Amino acid sequence: MEHKKEIRRVTTHVLQELKRKGEKITMLTAYDFSFAKIVDSAGIEVILVGDSASNVMAGHETTLPITLDQMIYHASSVVRAVGRALVVVDLPFGSYQGNSKIALDSAVRIMKESGAHAVKLEGGRTVKESVERIISAGIPVMGHLGLTPQSIYKFGTYVVRARGEEEAKQLESDAILLEEIGTFALVLEKIPAKLADKVSKQLKIPTIGIGAGRKCDGQVLVLHDMLGINKEFSPRFLRRYLNIYDDTTRAVQKYIRDVKAVDFPSEKEQY
Ligand code: KIV
Repeated sequence: MEHKKEIRRVTTHVLQELKRKGEKITMLTAYDFSFAKIVDSAGIEVILVGDSASNVMAGHETTLPITLDQMIYHASSVVRAVGRALVVVDLPFGSYQGNSKIALDSAVRIMKESGAHAVKLEGGRTVKESVERIISAGIPVMGHLGLTPQSIYKFGTYVVRARGEEEAKQLESDAILLEEIGTFALVLEKIPAKLADKVSKQLKIPTIGIGAGRKCDGQVLVLHDMLGINKEFSPRFLRRYLNIYDDTTRAVQKYIRDVKAVDFPSEKEQY
């Protein structure tokens, strides 16, 4: 009898174990079934259904417009594709700030309606009560500090955060607070590598960096950026592993030529 090899699912405990062993954690975003299937099968540990879907899937300038219903739609498509990775879903802007009851309701909807494994939200002390309430319901929470795109209109720009001493100190104390109240991991976005290193050493929970240097316990990129699906976004921290924009353009142009020249479909491609 053939035995199917058991897949060991990635849990929050596995991420903790990876940090303890000094093995880097890999995370990428995905927003749909087809890409999530590829990313999961390739062996990624964490898939983030990021609210960056607002930018790369819906074409909005910021992450603010995406709704809870839309996040649940993306998340449930991803969950249907995934057999191994931990699926973390962003709580969208307006679904958790300022009211911990609303925060819990939003997190519960994501867990129930999408089947995801955890939620992520942005901020430190300002969202303490929301984080505590969600965790008290048994829902794992990932934190997110540094550049927090949902607050873009407060910051005014997407430049590197926490370069100054005061903001760096605040970030450190927010990170410690998030660990104390039970978050299982922390995204550090666009902060100096030295600060990310210090925070990563201070915390027992893993840090996942984006534009935060190599000393974080793991790395995350937006899938569409690292695959080169879009060409406009080129920050220093982005490494492009493919150039899908140009490859797809060439493929579409070839298809147009083939159809116009009555080369496609050929005799073999018809019934
Ligand atoms: O929404 C997102 O894609 C994110 C990552 C940049 C961490 O939050």
